[in-house]
Amino acid sequence: MISLDWLYAILLTVFFASQGVAIQLDVNDEKSIKDAASTAAYNMMSYYHGNESGQVPGKLPDTWWEGGAMFMTLIQYWFWTGDASYNEVTTQGMLWQKGHDDYFPANYSNYLGNDDQVFWGLAAMTAAEVNFPEPSGESSWLSLAQGVFNTQVPRWDTSSCNGGLRWQIWPYQAGYTTKNAISNGGLFQLAARLGRYTKNQTYIDWAEKVWDWSATTPLLKTAEWNIADTTTTEANCKDHGDLQWTYNYGTYLSGAAYMYNLTDGNEKWKKAIDGLLGTTVAKFFPDKYGGDIMSEVSCEPNMMCDRNQDCFKGFLSSWLTFTTTVAPYTRDQILPKILASAQAAAKQCSGGDSKTDCGRRWYQQDKWDGTKSLESDMSALSVFSSTMIAHKKEHHAPLTAETGGTSKSNPSAGSGHEEQRQNMPKPITTGDRAGASIVTFIFACGWVTSVSWMVYGG
Ligand SMILES: *[C@@H]1O[C@H](CO)[C@@H](O)[C@H](O)[C@H]1NC(C)=O
Ligand SMILES: *[C@@H]1O[C@H](CO)[C@@H](O)[C@H](O)[C@H]1NC(C)=O
Ligand SMILES: *[C@@H]1O[C@H](CO)[C@@H](O)[C@H](O)[C@H]1NC(C)=O
Ligand SMILES: *[C@@H]1O[C@H](CO)[C@@H](O)[C@H](O)[C@H]1NC(C)=O
Repeated sequence: MISLDWLYAILLTVFFASQGVAIQLDVNDEKSIKDAASTAAYNMMSYYHGNESGQVPGKLPDTWWEGGAMFMTLIQYWFWTGDASYNEVTTQGMLWQKGHDDYFPANYSNYLGNDDQVFWGLAAMTAAEVNFPEPSGESSWLSLAQGVFNTQVPRWDTSSCNGGLRWQIWPYQAGYTTKNAISNGGLFQLAARLGRYTKNQTYIDWAEKVWDWSATTPLLKTAEWNIADTTTTEANCKDHGDLQWTYNYGTYLSGAAYMYNLTDGNEKWKKAIDGLLGTTVAKFFPDKYGGDIMSEVSCEPNMMCDRNQDCFKGFLSSWLTFTTTVAPYTRDQILPKILASAQAAAKQCSGGDSKTDCGRRWYQQDKWDGTKSLESDMSALSVFSSTMIAHKKEHHAPLTAETGGTSKSNPSAGSGHEEQRQNMPKPITTGDRAGASIVTFIFACGWVTSVSWMVYGG
């Protein structure tokens, strides 16, 4: 039997061991940023085994979409810090999962949502915009982003709500009758970036179209600059699932910034940036934490974030940061928030055996919050890398074909594979629905689990 004294001594040791050790970060010092980002990248990659023998490149356990998000984060890491340690593994995974140049690979395409697919497209777009090294003889990064655009546009659904992308692609999936912010905001952002990169009017028109349609629904309320997470076809897109998520704001906001840039400062997009930046700051940088530290306010207070949600702050970090490069007038407002969030995140990265695993509550600085995950490491990595912007005042805007981007265009990438789609739709029965949700649950490739349940269920 253990004596009370002993127990007390053990507890004290555990307590002190969890104090004072964390990722060290001084955002004024480039070397310190690079070291901090390198540690977070290393920790994140310790969860990835896709490059080992017998494993599937690009695939993370129990999730497909997060692979795209992870590689996007690593491409940004390379861009900001110059560390190429993960370039090879990134290229291998990005190419392995490319499907027919559309990030709709047969192994997973039966269970994917539009949002799952678009993250890979955004990763490829990022690679194109930063001239991420491209192996010769392979599909170009730009063409892979175009392939995602080309497969999403035919899914634009005018049978309800006068337009919009559904969340899920297949009728047998829960979420098929939902139209959500990240799917539509994701296509909007992708189209805006393709438009800016290529100057092809088709992409620009689609960006306008997705934005304008979103603004007819609660997904983008331009009167108060509020973004609802979801709306449904059953209610003709008048209803709204109002959980507030950082990445929904980030995707529409940064898409608007690319549009602002490509239109040379058009007032419509200036208003959009100012409006969304205002609500983003007010909601996700709470005054009670000093006003500059990002928080996923819908799930951090009760520690009910799921693994998807733990990724979101990373996306907002990088999208805000790129916003400062294409809409430079936002720099003074955004930069302090990135720097303070990174500084706070580093202190929260004090968990696990290494004392450098990242928790999720960046605002809780005195003590590790007790969680660690690939997703929290990824968000921390993203915000650490982003602070490099403070040391790079020029020449760090995403490239375009005119300003040195070398990735080759293939406007028809990803088209011509309609046959897989034709086999799929069939009458839906209750049995199918139930079966599908069980199958979906088992495969857990997308993020079909009910978000409201996850957040409020406990
Ligand atoms: C897999 O990638 C990691 C970097 O994340 C690297 O350290 C490791 O050597 C690679 N393994 C193989 C088998 O290539
Ligand atoms: C599809 O699954 C097979 C069998 O597990 C695997 O060998 C292959 O690498 C997978 N392809 C992709 C793109 O994940
Ligand atoms: C568009 O981006 C470029 C590159 O950063 C920048 O120099 C230019 O000022 C931006 N345009 C506008 C209207 O802000
Ligand atoms: C512009 O994009 C559209 C849609 O992908 C494509 O059909 C067209 O060929 C492209 N035009 C050029 C000049 O690349």
